[in-house]
Amino acid sequence: MNHLLDARLLCAASFVRADAVLADVGTDHAYLPIALLADGRIRYAYAADIARGPLASAREHLAACAAELPGLEDRIRLVLTDGLCGLDHYAPAVTDITVCGMGGELIARILADAPFVRDGGIRLILQPMTMQAYLRVWLGENGFAVEAERLCRTANGKLYTVLCCRFTGDSYVPVHPILGDALLADEENGALLGAYLTEMARRLGRIVDGKHGAGEECRAESEALSCANTLLERMCNDKHKGE
Ligand SMILES: C[S@@+](CC[C@H](N)C(=O)[O-])C[C@H]1O[C@@H](n2cnc3c(N)ncnc32)[C@H](O)[C@@H]1O
Repeated sequence: MNHLLDARLLCAASFVRADAVLADVGTDHAYLPIALLADGRIRYAYAADIARGPLASAREHLAACAAELPGLEDRIRLVLTDGLCGLDHYAPAVTDITVCGMGGELIARILADAPFVRDGGIRLILQPMTMQAYLRVWLGENGFAVEAERLCRTANGKLYTVLCCRFTGDSYVPVHPILGDALLADEENGALLGAYLTEMARRLGRIVDGKHGAGEECRAESEALSCANTLLERMCNDKHKGE
């Protein structure tokens, strides 16, 4: 069933622990929980969405897959809810949570509204489409450690990032909220890091130019731009040394 998942969802899936009870928030088509259940990677899944339309499409996919995999429907529960609301009252208890394909601000709001995620035993797998820096700062302020942040690239060449987090209760301020501390430190990102930094430098360059032109403050973006350029230069030098 891995064919259901593109590189972005495969990357998120790679962080879900074996035998997990997964809550997939904003599940839409429910590809992620269905693929993980079908592959026997997880024990049970809650496929949750705030809207009826996506849940109807999840139900259709589920019925189609259940024809091939008897018993699938007994291991997944479709839930109409805002974020994680109410999911702490169900059994079996959630161990891993995926929130993919939403803005960073909405992801932070969903976590803020669910105090039960402030439990070090629960793994949070977050894939923000926008406002990544906002989410990283929010996680730091609220005592969630980012244990890994992995890059992935889909077939159309777009880069995405997936954060794997856990509540520790220790708040901190990220050093590089715009680029991602854990992302920069993660050796698994080696192959895609150059492309990511080049893309970020291009975007940040435009933002800094625009803000300078408008007389607006842009210290954070300037710092991130200079960090991205320094890292790119270092990568280039290392490559030449290795030749
Ligand atoms: C762009 S889709 C992402 C689908 C899938 N998670 C993925 O990454 O491919 C976003 C989904 O999130 C749902 N959604 C938006 N806000 C939500 C909320 N507050 N709680 C639960 N689901 C929400 C939408 O209805 C939609 O189905």
